[in-house]
Order: sequence, then structure tokens, then C-alpha cells
Amino acid sequence: MNGKPIDFLIRRSAAQLTKAGIENALYETRLLLEAATGISLKKQLIQPDQYLNEKQVRVFAQYIELRRNRTPFAYITGQKEFYGRKFLVENCLIPRPETELLVDLVLENQKKWLSGKPRILELCTGTGCLGITLYLELKTEFAEPDVVLTDISQQALATCKANIMQYCEPDCQIEVVAADLFPESQQFDLIIANPPYVRSKDIGNLEADVFEYEPHLALDGGEDGLDFYRRIAKKIKPFLSKIGNTVLLLEHGSGQRNAIKQIFVETNLDIEKTIELNDYQKHDRILGFVIK
Ligand SMILES: C[S@@+](CC[C@H](N)C(=O)[O-])C[C@H]1O[C@@H](n2cnc3c(N)ncnc32)[C@H](O)[C@@H]1O
Repeated sequence: MNGKPIDFLIRRSAAQLTKAGIENALYETRLLLEAATGISLKKQLIQPDQYLNEKQVRVFAQYIELRRNRTPFAYITGQKEFYGRKFLVENCLIPRPETELLVDLVLENQKKWLSGKPRILELCTGTGCLGITLYLELKTEFAEPDVVLTDISQQALATCKANIMQYCEPDCQIEVVAADLFPESQQFDLIIANPPYVRSKDIGNLEADVFEYEPHLALDGGEDGLDFYRRIAKKIKPFLSKIGNTVLLLEHGSGQRNAIKQIFVETNLDIEKTIELNDYQKHDRILGFVIK
């Protein structure tokens, strides 16, 4: 790649990515160049004749090679933007844009659902993008929310802790717990989860970027994709607030809403209200319950 101006390198690399079946190859190439060299997209456009040094050439070539092999962009750069902040993603599911809807939903209803020093639990936290974002967005309105984040993967929790260190004060009220779903018994005002929800038999049909690189532990929701919703419905009772309502918000796969509703209807939980939200593609995506 050496000895050529960046415009030449960009076009040649974009052609390679296009050949590998990457959509928006030119844009991704520019973003990879930015990540590899620190040369912003704007500088790439206004100074197309500039040259890279040897190290920049080497790192850019590595990034392009990884992307040609369908390594997800976020695993190459090590991070993904979520709600305006960059989260480390090593050994975690890459945060998806539609998950930001869960944050929006809480922030829109914060005055109705939360008060005082709210206690928030996130199950299946992965990077921690949801719980950490809620903590950061709510902490000015509410005196230090108490946040508990759980995941069964120690590797994911290590990344989650690194994300907390990036954004939160050392003495912040975020507890990270290795647990199979729920932590030790405590009561919460808000419980959120984006659990694994892909049907086991569909995992092999996921795009190569997902199937080959994202942790299957973060994807596999059992035979019908609903195992985690069943377990949450069965186990949630001791974690509900004793003094007020608890709001439970669940992200789920497209087409799963009615089945999950049925799971909760069949419990003996005292459900006061059901919340339903579709994503940007108008697919059913979030289901919530206000539980008395
Ligand atoms: C779909 S990912 C969600 C990650 C993150 N909350 C997000 O929205 O981007 C599901 C997460 O559940 C975790 N997980 C899988 N089985 C679990 C279990 N039995 N208990 C707790 N967490 C589990 C995985 O390690 C993974 O981090």
C-alpha cells in the first residue's frame, strides 16, 4: 500500500471490501482509515493527496484485511457508539442502535416511573451500554441511582467494568455481578433486559459477521428463542419493589411480542399496564410491564 496517496489507497481498499460483499464499502473504508491513522473523514476529503507513514499503512492494511474477512467493524476498532458514547466491545455482543430505544423510553417516562434514589437492575448487560447509559443520563435528575448489572460471562463483565471506568466516577453506585440472570435478592424500581432471543436452530443462518464473531452465549435464546423471558417471568417476583410499582422493560426479537405477553399473562404477577414499542423498521421490539 505504501508510496500511494490516501485517495488511491481508499479507492483500492473500498473495491476490495465491495468484492467481499460489504455494503457502504467506501464509507467503511474511510472510517477504517480514520480509526487506523487518526485522519478524520473531513481531512481525507480535503487532502486526498497526502501520504501515510509506514505504521499507518501497516495498521490500515490490517484493518482492511480483517474487514474483508467479515470481522465486524466494531471488533476491529474495539468499540461501538451507543447513545453518543463509545463503548468497548471485546467479548460482548455489539450494541445495536434499536437498543437505544429502551433508553429513550426510560428517559421519556422517568418522572412517572422513578423517584428519589431509584434502584435499577439490568440483566444480561454485556458491554453495560444500557445500564451505564441510564446511570449517566439519570444521575443529574435523581440523586445517584443505584444500578446493578448482571451477566453470566466473566469476559463480558470485564469489558463492562472497563466501560464503567471510562465513564463513571470511581465511587459510583454501579454494582457488577456475575449471575445466572438475577443477583442476590434485592428490590428494584426498574428492571431492564436485552436477553439472548435467537432460536437455537436459526443461529447458523445469521450473517457471517454475526455468526462467526459475536458470542453465541449472547444470542442463543433456546429452542423457540423465549427461554430467557420464561425464566425472567418465573423468577422476578422477589425483585419487585415492596413500596411501589416496578417497571420491567424487555427487548425482544421481531415477531416475539405476543408469545412473551402470553408468558407473562400466565404468571401470577399483578400487571397494571403493558408497554409496547416498535423499532425504526416498525418491527415489534420492546415489551414492558408495570407490575404492582
Ligand atoms: C443480547 S446480549 C445483550 C447485551 C447488552 N445488554 C446489549 O443490549 O447490547 C445478551 C447478554 O446476555 C448474557 N447472558 C447469556 N446467558 C445469561 C445468563 N444465563 N445470565 C445472565 N446473562 C446471560 C450474554 O453474556 C450477553 O452479554
